[in-house]
Amino acid sequence: MRAVALGCGHYLPERVVSNDELAAQVDTSDEWIVARTGIRRRHIAAEGEKTSDLAAAAGRAALENAGLGPEDIDAVVVATATPDQTFPSTATRVQHALGIKRGFAYDIQAVCAGFIYVLANANGLILSGQAKRILVIGAETFSRILDWDDRATCVLFGDGAGAIVLEAQEGDGGPADRGVLGTCLHSDGAYNDLLYVSGGPSTTQTAGFLRMEGREVFRHAVVKLADVAEEVMEKVGVGPTDLDWIVPHQANLRIIDATARKLSMSMDKVVVTVQDHGNTSAASIPLALSVAVDEGRIRPGDLLLMEAIGGGLAWGAALLRW
Ligand code: UT7
Repeated sequence: MRAVALGCGHYLPERVVSNDELAAQVDTSDEWIVARTGIRRRHIAAEGEKTSDLAAAAGRAALENAGLGPEDIDAVVVATATPDQTFPSTATRVQHALGIKRGFAYDIQAVCAGFIYVLANANGLILSGQAKRILVIGAETFSRILDWDDRATCVLFGDGAGAIVLEAQEGDGGPADRGVLGTCLHSDGAYNDLLYVSGGPSTTQTAGFLRMEGREVFRHAVVKLADVAEEVMEKVGVGPTDLDWIVPHQANLRIIDATARKLSMSMDKVVVTVQDHGNTSAASIPLALSVAVDEGRIRPGDLLLMEAIGGGLAWGAALLRW
């Protein structure tokens, strides 16, 4: 059995904020942001626009793209670190918003690695027979947890959501199958202080603000992403020359570039959207995937490598044949 992707979709809030607009608020510049990160603009959610609103819009687009209705879905799983409420899950709000009346819904929290985690989890649900069709979403409103006076972090992130629909289908068991071919997950809580939010229900009873030791996270990212990419390819029995696309977490163009170089992959085979979206955490991979599918770059049968790292530290990679 394989978890095969039937379709995808995404949603970006209407408001686009340029680097120049940020430079009017904090001591930064378009030159610095572009040179250090590759980011040129990001979308920011409107007042009152919640993570579940973004997630539901992306989910609706993915269902439409897959030619399915709410009655076809057994489970909704949402990766987010910026839920609407501490509880219940954002996924249950999405389930309700989409008119899904049966099955189950829950969130997974692995920050920027969230989409790899939720994909691995949904794959497990399908392989164990607990669901036949799953709506898998990554959605974030990081603008709500940014310290807008901290130039080292506020220029890096944006809001958005991306979604895919997975369906249980029979495969041959080899790497030529369509669907999720393999996943590898890792975390190490010793690195909590490198990237965290300074609040939470059980500590400060506030939402808190994002804090990051950017240079240190960068150092871990370059090594760990290349390692986990190699690991998942070895597990599935493919090599870099078999890949059609890398769809990486979109945090920093320099990290994306360094990882591609370590895998000897040309940048023509890497989907890059960081210039338009900034870092949208768990939403970044499904957003990039959906944009590339819409542009006709990713086609049925293409082999995709996805990889991500973020707070925890938590990181992982997945191979999916589209
Ligand atoms: O998605 C989760 C995973 N997160 C990541 O992958 C992020 C990983 N880290 C990074 O992407 C990079 O480390 C950053 C983009 C955050 C920073 O780039 P960097 O090349 O590592 O710069 P830096 O932190 O070493 O800072 C260099 C200089 C510093 O000034 P001094 O100490 O050299 O005088 C900073 O104060 O740049 C300064 N700086 C800025 N200057 C203008 C920091 N932020 C800004 C800014 N505008 N926005």
